Amino acid sequence: MSHIDEKLRDHAAQISQKTLVELFAEEPQRVQAATFQVAGIYADLSKNHINTQTGELWTQWAAQAGVAEGIAAVVRGDNVNKGEHRPALHHALRAPAEGEFVVNGIDVNIEIRAARRRMQDFAERIRGGTWKGYRDEAISDVVHIGIGGSELGPRLLCEAFAHEADGPKIHFLATPDPVQLQHLMHTLNPATTLLIVASKSFGTEETLANADILRTWLRQHGGEAADNQMLAISANVDKAAAFGIAEERVLPFWDWVGGRFSLWSAIALPFILQNGYAAYEKLLAGAHEMDKHFQTAAIAQNLPAQLALLDAWYNHYFGINNRALILYAHSLAAFPQYLQQLDMESLGKRANRAGKPLDKPSGLIIWGGTGTESQHAFFQLIHQGQRRIPLDFITVKKAPQGLEKAAHIVHGHCLAQAEALMRGRDESDLQEIPEAERYQRTSPGNRPSSTLILDELSPQCLGALIALYEHKTTVLGILYDVNAYDQWGVELGKILAKGTEASLAGEIGAHHDASTAALLKHLKSS
Ligand code: F6P
Repeated sequence: MSHIDEKLRDHAAQISQKTLVELFAEEPQRVQAATFQVAGIYADLSKNHINTQTGELWTQWAAQAGVAEGIAAVVRGDNVNKGEHRPALHHALRAPAEGEFVVNGIDVNIEIRAARRRMQDFAERIRGGTWKGYRDEAISDVVHIGIGGSELGPRLLCEAFAHEADGPKIHFLATPDPVQLQHLMHTLNPATTLLIVASKSFGTEETLANADILRTWLRQHGGEAADNQMLAISANVDKAAAFGIAEERVLPFWDWVGGRFSLWSAIALPFILQNGYAAYEKLLAGAHEMDKHFQTAAIAQNLPAQLALLDAWYNHYFGINNRALILYAHSLAAFPQYLQQLDMESLGKRANRAGKPLDKPSGLIIWGGTGTESQHAFFQLIHQGQRRIPLDFITVKKAPQGLEKAAHIVHGHCLAQAEALMRGRDESDLQEIPEAERYQRTSPGNRPSSTLILDELSPQCLGALIALYEHKTTVLGILYDVNAYDQWGVELGKILAKGTEASLAGEIGAHHDASTAALLKHLKSS
């Protein structure tokens, strides 16, 4: 056990003996010390099991883990994705891209500028009605076909700003779900529907199957002329061409952007089509502001680093294995799902950066939902269950004019939940209740949470929020000593799916286990 590890373990044991309420009583400056204001986000971390000494130890911990050097390596464009010999340059996609940024002999800024021009051009033609379907009519609907990082980001953006949409209607198709496919083909007009095939690898089975099915549907109605209603976003132009999408209809994606970090690239096209290129520029600007903070603030003032240290602190020293995100903003309902890929695909690892077994747990289980609905669903367990679940409460300050009363209810519940979880109530608060019924009404309290308030529901603020969690993931990768940019764990299932699909289409293979063989038999029975 390292020296800092020992100090952190001892400190965790000490601080655990005090309740959050006692920590507030001990440190009058606690709220100011644990509050951050960055890029339109107000973040209060004070309702957590931390104090001044924790902050000091975290700074030593980050220094020992090499957090500052790790951040600098990402920013410089070092090959931080070691196994795949690639940098992770998503931050370059939201910078102004002026001048040169040469990485591995390539000026990525030239590529970024060129891609932006093409995205803008595509958007103007599709939104402006000059990109026509096979009957010479403007595009009314877009089906975005993609999965994982090629779907979660643009869907989050489109759902968040659907109320300001002024472009074609966007539909997302991730899995080849026969019912969803049938519904789309029954309700959409093929003459005015555009297909976007989004796949970094252009090798993802589900995406290619969906693209093939919907292309067949388009061609059945419009013949070969309908191929003009199909475009791709991919790093594999050759595979897209082999599929039949010509290079001039392929927007680029690069090896130096991970799928789950890609919503700043052309992967954002559906959002641009729905809300316009200016909205996309605002999204980038908000993220860039968070980048500047992340790259320059000292660890003690660095919000993404502090959020990361908090997770690692609970994970390694409190035995906590999950974090819940509760969005008191219905428009951001897709955020937990987005973050599940970002965090769990990046950090759910058992090998360290040298490829050897880790000796401490890595990624947490990330889950969540929207408030106030979650209060009427799973909050019972958070309040009275035996597990301690740290939460991130996220809400938006500014409400549309005339709807202040609704905002008061949403904000009121958001803050009240955090307060109730911290305070709890004991039998002394329940004197009017018969004694035998008191215990079941008590709540232990002392349950930690952080509260993040966005100034407004704008592309800038959402860009900053997403970048905040991306950077938190980067720091956690360093603290846990894992490669946050690969995802080898998902491969085995993909390989075995070839066998199960073959057994469904033909004879059941002898290689399946008895349970899988029986399930296959059941699915195939008439
Ligand atoms: O299977 C996991 C994954 O590789 C994700 O990392 C990625 O976002 C998703 O599949 C989709 O990949 P692609 O964009 O290459 O189709």
